[in-house]
Amino acid sequence: MCGIVGVVGNTNATDILIQGLEKLEYRGYDSAGIFVLGGAENHLVKAVGRIAELSAKTAGVEGTTGIGHTRWATHGKPTEDNAHPHRSETERFVLVHNGVIENYLEIKEEYLAGHHFKGQTDTEIAVHLIGKFAEEDGLSVLEAFKKALHIIRGSYAFALIDSQDPEVIYVAKNKSPLLIGLGQGYNMVCSDAMAMIRETNQYMEIHDQELVIVKADSVEVQDYDGNSRERASYTAELDLSDIGKGTYPYYMLKEIDEQPTVMRKLIQAYTDEFGQVVVDPAIIKAVQDADRIYILAAGTSYHAGFASKKMLEELTDTPVELGISSEWGYGMPLLSKKPLFIFISQSGETADSRQVLVKANKMGIPSLTVTNVPGSTLSREANHTMLLHAGPEIAVASTKAYTAQIAALAFLAKAVGEANGNAKAQAFDLVHELSIVAQSIESTLSEKETIEAKVRDLLETTRNAFYIGRGQDYYVAMEASLKLKEISYIQCEGFAAGELKHGTIALIEEGTPVLALLSDPVLANHTRGNIQEVAARGAKVLTIAEENVAKDTDDIVLTTVHPYLSPISMVVPTQLVAYFATLHRGLDVDKPRNLAKSVTVE
Ligand code: F6R
Repeated sequence: MCGIVGVVGNTNATDILIQGLEKLEYRGYDSAGIFVLGGAENHLVKAVGRIAELSAKTAGVEGTTGIGHTRWATHGKPTEDNAHPHRSETERFVLVHNGVIENYLEIKEEYLAGHHFKGQTDTEIAVHLIGKFAEEDGLSVLEAFKKALHIIRGSYAFALIDSQDPEVIYVAKNKSPLLIGLGQGYNMVCSDAMAMIRETNQYMEIHDQELVIVKADSVEVQDYDGNSRERASYTAELDLSDIGKGTYPYYMLKEIDEQPTVMRKLIQAYTDEFGQVVVDPAIIKAVQDADRIYILAAGTSYHAGFASKKMLEELTDTPVELGISSEWGYGMPLLSKKPLFIFISQSGETADSRQVLVKANKMGIPSLTVTNVPGSTLSREANHTMLLHAGPEIAVASTKAYTAQIAALAFLAKAVGEANGNAKAQAFDLVHELSIVAQSIESTLSEKETIEAKVRDLLETTRNAFYIGRGQDYYVAMEASLKLKEISYIQCEGFAAGELKHGTIALIEEGTPVLALLSDPVLANHTRGNIQEVAARGAKVLTIAEENVAKDTDDIVLTTVHPYLSPISMVVPTQLVAYFATLHRGLDVDKPRNLAKSVTVE
């Protein structure tokens, strides 16, 4: 949610900032801006819309130092005035910010009487506050920044420039992500290593409530009271090819196609040379010690939790409860005596989940984060981490992370079950079954043209649609409908097929698209009954069925896989449905309106 870049001491500053912002565009894309200095003059350039709009305005913008920002609006509409960077009253100080300042109105009232603001953002208040302390109260830049940091409450990653000094960028963070990138003779700042991987693979973490003074040849980390903190650098395991689109028109299609490879990478990561499943014994013990597992997540990751519930319960003999992070942050239900919290998060940065983790840590509840991003906040702050090994996911709509989440949890369930002597776990040949899943996905992917043709007829112009299914298929229906609505803007509900007749069937009318999912031999006939009910009321039905329950009339037929893993293969055609529906409606698949990839505000 909002992306920040900065560079100090490089004559290609503008290019580095723009390229970095392009890589961070997934974090927000309603407006963007850069401030560059150290050349003949200082430049502030802003644009509403995508980075391409900003880039088009940067001809002749030259300098050695600068900061940039791509925005996902929280306070104030996406306009140039609200776009970052923001400047202080005299325009001497320039600031970019990711996060939400909770007490910005109080600050405005208490400290900034008589100041003039151009926009409505909380960020503008912060930079005016710093400016006031430096210029009206006579503090040094560093002291002014520190004083402001002691006053500001909320989440933030800040990068601050004094326009009279091109030699330094001041940064600070609390709850929002920010890294230092270490170049040869220059240094950088970024929300995500992806932004600067073209320049360096050497990074330095910043912890919450730390301030960093970044110069071309030095990086100094301090706490807010000025005490120095030692920090080693680390090498980011990212490859430029991981973050390019290659020959694909959209990242989403590339990421859908990568899923068989991701399944195989997970097998490599969680097995030894004899093909035995290997999970950190400390994680196995944490599950064994728990009397109940609580899965906390948001959106697609929450759906992956549902899709894994039955498998986790049956193999680990531990009940599993699901919680929406944004709800649990403010009201935790009565917990069992020995809870284990499992956070599922592609990004590892979701603020809603983090606030639950902070509470869990205070309550001494053990925790495991299942994430795609090593070193992410949720990974650092939980007791244990399991990685998804899915490679960077850049399209806003999550695809390969969802399937990797279920597969990673399958390794956990299998490992715990085996350690407990659970007969079902012993009989579950996960490596073999996951290889079949990879093949099943491959065969679905080879049917793209058929799926595209069916989707064109069904979804090109509709305003609404339904996914229905029972059991595991219901959980997939929830995810399938989220995917469809978030990128195609078709209003779609994922429904338990048997529940429709209790009210929602009233919405079915002539031509309403209903997509039915069928994988379970016990439940498929019941779902077929529900299909008849909606068809009798005029619905246009598309069926997606596994071979073991398929009929000749089904539209998309998938290779049968192990029931625990069916949500993985079953979701893939629905990802393609969402992709093609969006394409045919002429929309941007990778960057749907109003959304951002990494949701770092509560
Ligand atoms: C939808 C999607 C979101 C995320 C949600 C949680 O395609 O990606 O619903 O799943 O914002 O994000 P993470 O998994 O990063 O915690």
